[in-house]
Amino acid sequence: RTIYLSEYRVPDYLVDHVDLRFELFEEGARVHSKLAVRRNPEATGGPVPLELNGDSLTLESVHLDGRQLTTDEYQDKGELLIVPAVPDTFELQVVTWIEPQNNTRLEGLYKSSGMFCTQCEAEGFRCITFFPDRPDVMARYRTRIEADRSMYPVLLSNGNDVDRGVLEGGRHFVTWEDPFPKPSYLFALVAGDLVEQKDAFTTVSGRNIDLRIYVEPRNADKTDHAMDSLKRAMRWDEEVYGREYDLDIFMIVAVDDFNMGAMENKGLNIFNSSCVLARPESETDAAFQRIESIVAHEYFHNWSGNRVTCRDWFQLSLKEGFTVFRDSQFSADMGSETVNRIENVAMLRTAQFAEDAGPMAHPVRPASYMEISNFYTLTIYEKGAEVVGMIHTLLGPDLFRKGSDLYFERHDGQAVTTDDFVKAMEDASGRDLGQFRLWYEQAGTPVLTVEDDYDEAGEVYRLTIRQSIPATPGQSNKKPQHIPFALGLLDGEGNDLPIRLAPSEADAPATRVLELTEESHTFEFPDIPERPVPSLLRHFSAPVRVNYPWTRDQLRFLMSHDSDGFNRWDAGQRLAVDVIRELSGHAETKVDPRLIDASRVLLTDESADQALVAKMLQLPGEAYLIELTDQADVQTIHHARERVLKSLATALRDELMACYRRQQTASHYQITPEDVASRSLRNMTLAWLLHIGDEEALELALEQFRNASNMTDQSGALRALANSPFEAERRQALDDFYQQWQVDPQVVEQWFAIQASSPVSGDLEAVRRLLEHPAFDWKNPNKIRSVVGAFAGQNLPHFHSQDGSGYQFLAETIRRLDDSNPQIAARLTAPLTRWRKFAHVYSEGMHKALESVRDKENLSRDVYEIVHKSLAE
Ligand code: ARG
Ligand code: ZN
Repeated sequence: RTIYLSEYRVPDYLVDHVDLRFELFEEGARVHSKLAVRRNPEATGGPVPLELNGDSLTLESVHLDGRQLTTDEYQDKGELLIVPAVPDTFELQVVTWIEPQNNTRLEGLYKSSGMFCTQCEAEGFRCITFFPDRPDVMARYRTRIEADRSMYPVLLSNGNDVDRGVLEGGRHFVTWEDPFPKPSYLFALVAGDLVEQKDAFTTVSGRNIDLRIYVEPRNADKTDHAMDSLKRAMRWDEEVYGREYDLDIFMIVAVDDFNMGAMENKGLNIFNSSCVLARPESETDAAFQRIESIVAHEYFHNWSGNRVTCRDWFQLSLKEGFTVFRDSQFSADMGSETVNRIENVAMLRTAQFAEDAGPMAHPVRPASYMEISNFYTLTIYEKGAEVVGMIHTLLGPDLFRKGSDLYFERHDGQAVTTDDFVKAMEDASGRDLGQFRLWYEQAGTPVLTVEDDYDEAGEVYRLTIRQSIPATPGQSNKKPQHIPFALGLLDGEGNDLPIRLAPSEADAPATRVLELTEESHTFEFPDIPERPVPSLLRHFSAPVRVNYPWTRDQLRFLMSHDSDGFNRWDAGQRLAVDVIRELSGHAETKVDPRLIDASRVLLTDESADQALVAKMLQLPGEAYLIELTDQADVQTIHHARERVLKSLATALRDELMACYRRQQTASHYQITPEDVASRSLRNMTLAWLLHIGDEEALELALEQFRNASNMTDQSGALRALANSPFEAERRQALDDFYQQWQVDPQVVEQWFAIQASSPVSGDLEAVRRLLEHPAFDWKNPNKIRSVVGAFAGQNLPHFHSQDGSGYQFLAETIRRLDDSNPQIAARLTAPLTRWRKFAHVYSEGMHKALESVRDKENLSRDVYEIVHKSLAE
């Protein structure tokens, strides 16, 4: 069944108050719910039956205003509890029985390493009790949890704890009350034997907030970084958005089994362990950065998501796009702006552009869906964030802040739409964002084709920009969108020329944001004394593709001179893409010396920003190269990229070695952009040298592997070894690493991922062996992601083996997981959906694999939607 935005109707009944009592046992849980319900004054028409959503519930009893209903006074249809005759205002009591210990879907209430926890977004609350499980029904919650006192000493829910006590039979209870009305998807409960790290935060208005991170005892030494990140995020949101925290306590809980990264439940955020726990010895720089941004993301949701929430799930990007935009601004402020931008754009262009060009393409505000869990996508999150970012660019920071203030003030306590967000931005700024709204409605990545010419006599530079938006499933003939296009013009020395729109305009900017609204625009820039080199779409000012016939000399020039750091990196990527493509399928072609020279300059220039250098030296990934190619031939792309990498490493062997030796390991681990860059350069140079079998580098790698004082260095060495031709050392290092770290599941996940993603260590046989490894666990999403996800997403030469074995393996895995955890099964299906993108030898096998998934019995709605949309003509 497909659900349409156009069919939205306000709820017939509202719930003002929810009173919950959980009796938690080993063989199940009894949930007593008492709802204060009233007819919605905005609902039209006569009285209608009360309908409550449910999923996998055993109904025990229903009372209406204190009187038990007989079975002919309600209908239990499993997914719906219907009470045909209800008054305008009433109290409904429902008792259900659930089995958290058997809940492998990890939606609703379930058990993870012995503790009870919940995940209710988007529609998990209905797996706990019957309820109008939609975000526009907002209620105040009171929650009493009862459990065995020794097994579950810690009992948590949203809000403030207002009562606690001891019960008979070794049991106890705690009661929580959340004063803020919230939708059911923000409900949370945790019960377990946990230790807490306590801290405090004083808000700008002087309120004292109790901060707590709850973890299993074995993780007690991994909470500092998350706590520091939380305090930085709280301060930042006050300073940059004027948002203060509102409850007296803020809690974070780490759980091992979690379908996603983390969840912003009111006052009680629940995190996947891998997104919150870290210490330098066992987690990498990447993990530290991920944790900082996710802790901030979930915290920022307290305003963008919780205080102001979504009217319906079509509006998901209202909270996710805005919150991702906010967390990227935060990360940029905490570290390197340019490097953060590069990382976000690389992901967007590799994965979101691919989604936008595939069978699951959908607008930032979708018009329909079958299973909402499938719409927690890169389009909703990352493209949604880019859309908010473009509003920021069009309005400027001050008007944007006025707009966000107005949005929060106007809609506090409401469930609203993306349109309400844009309206607040319009009202605060006086700008017309009418055409801009198309970014929310039209799917597909706009393509900009840029042409230029220079009139020497008149000193006028002319730029013509055309936009077109490709058709996507169900959408064709799209209207032109409103695109902010940031432009720079470089003179022969590499300096920015002032960009004037009229002759002798005073204070002309060096970066000018052109606003594209028509299918084609021609801009004329006067007073340009020589033919400039254009720097197009600076800072990636819009999520679009840009076509312009750059010469390799121009790209080299931009790489070293563009004042926009992002575009310096982008020029390097374009040059590398061009060189790799030239080699594809041409064994006799040599690597363009300009790419080698450019890399040499980067490797030897100690005065340059090393964080940017580290990024610029990375070759574009295979997935990105595939995204840029029609009828992609994976093996050819892989080999061309390998050849470029090997030529670079061979030609620059001495420079790489010198660069490696120059990077000192700081004695005290810090996560500053400088130290991160240094470790990243160390590991990259090592990897390149090992890739070409350099014996001296092998010694350095073994030494770094054994003596590293932090996981970035240790796993960097391991990764380099795992991808090297030194077979004996490679196997030994992998074994030693497991011996050293087997007690830490998070490190074991890294160990799995390093092997499964390695074209050298991770052929299909090896990956199948990992599934048999005692540390592998089919019930734990992180383990599945670190083996199967890493193989299908990163180990492209083996996954895309031309005999189709990689695809069949993935299909088997999806079929196996479909019953136990449909959300994870659906996520794993993504690599197969892109079958049309590949050359016939590949697409045939992918198509077959999809069909074998389609033919499984009792396919979940999650996987059904993806497979059927992918196979549709
Ligand atoms: N709201 C969470 C976040 O972005 C993600 C929840 C994902 N839930 C799901 N069913 N996919 O922080
Ligand atoms: Zn979010």
